[in-house]
Amino acid sequence: MSNNDTTSQVWGGRFTEPTDAFVQAFTASVGFDQRLYRYDIMGSIAHAQMLAKVGVLTDAEYQDIAAGLRALEREIESGDFTWSVALEDVHMNIEARLTERIGIAGKKLHTGRSRNDQVATDMRLYVREEIDAVIGQLRALRNALLDLAEQEADTVMPGFTHLQVAQPVTFGHHLLAWHEMLVRDTARFSDCRKRVNIMPLGAAALAGTTYPIDRHYTAQLLGFDGVAENSLDAVSDRDFIIEFCAAAATTQMHLSRFSEELILWASQQFQFVDIGDRFCTGSSIMPQKKNPDVPELVRGKTGRAFGNLIALLTLMKGQPLAYNKDNQEDKEPLFDSVDTLRGCLRVFTDMVPALRVNRERMLQATLQGFSTATDLADYLVRKGAAFRDAHEIVGKAVRYGVEQGRDLSALTLEELQRVGAMITQDVFDVLTPQGSVAARNHIGGTAPQQVRAAIVRARKLAG
Ligand code: ARG
Repeated sequence: MSNNDTTSQVWGGRFTEPTDAFVQAFTASVGFDQRLYRYDIMGSIAHAQMLAKVGVLTDAEYQDIAAGLRALEREIESGDFTWSVALEDVHMNIEARLTERIGIAGKKLHTGRSRNDQVATDMRLYVREEIDAVIGQLRALRNALLDLAEQEADTVMPGFTHLQVAQPVTFGHHLLAWHEMLVRDTARFSDCRKRVNIMPLGAAALAGTTYPIDRHYTAQLLGFDGVAENSLDAVSDRDFIIEFCAAAATTQMHLSRFSEELILWASQQFQFVDIGDRFCTGSSIMPQKKNPDVPELVRGKTGRAFGNLIALLTLMKGQPLAYNKDNQEDKEPLFDSVDTLRGCLRVFTDMVPALRVNRERMLQATLQGFSTATDLADYLVRKGAAFRDAHEIVGKAVRYGVEQGRDLSALTLEELQRVGAMITQDVFDVLTPQGSVAARNHIGGTAPQQVRAAIVRARKLAG
């Protein structure tokens, strides 16, 4: 990046002294907004095409501008472009270089627009593209979860409430709970996209422009669904970024919960899953360690996503209409939320299929926590007991089991009959974890049959 002569700024006409060197660096955004160059060029070409259509530019001028901008795009991509802090931001860097390349036509590009509607347009084009990429990544992760759920549809594990063993569930069912969260996350991004895909261009600085612009034409060229209805709102609104970051924060929150479970399950105490070695690291001092770094980092990075959302909400809350320079601060939190989310989704999508499931440990854990106590109570109700009495009887059976160090399913019929005389041999059908899960056979229930049906429905919906 170069520091050009400060008196040569494009808006320098009304100034009598150059910008303070530190102020120049302080106010510049080119260090981070150069990331928008593709959208800036795309928006400029469409704007110039529209200006030619309405007769503000000649066709030849438009052709020069479009060719010049395309050449510039290649220059940027090859790394030959020199970004200048003196030129403040991505918009003025590109415009100045264009004029350097094509002369007077370059100076006409900015007719009928302002950086205020330009940057709002760039940001919307950028967010739109990122939404599409995130939705694609979410689909890939959902598919990975569906594949694993299918494989583990019959695998029994303890279901928890308060992190205490509650009732048996199938691991497939547990994975589908994560899948559901990601289905809602996907819907949030799709919904957000509707409000993102509205074009601010034409609002100019804040009040619109005196040129005979055709906003619908530009919108059509850029693939926008519509044009912003109010010029003041168009240049100042950043709701679409807040919405995106809120959806990103929610998805991160889900990935963080998911991470927390993986970390617990990979621990020596649980040993439910083994996270592939390539997603873990060792310790520099303890040779036995294999640390679940990837889920830990995803959990940790979730803090950024929350922070970025709060930063943006706070950025907006004090702003009078219309554009204020405050809005330049919308970029870094947004970019960080995008990079964080996309990285986390990518690593999760690689990690999920590599999980090794320890079915035996899951089953043993299910047999340890009296997880079928509710099943025994339900059984007694079917045999004629009132639920409260059944609850009492099962409580006694559990106390006996605790004393004996044996699960309910490991007690003999005779032992069970001592607490509940109506118990017969068929009790063992419900006392096993497999019997317990199979009995919860309704939509939304944990039975293997329901897990398989839910996978079929999910795959059909995903198309
Ligand atoms: N770099 C600015 C931003 O990111 C572009 C718009 C500047 N507009 C202005 N009137 N200074 O918001």
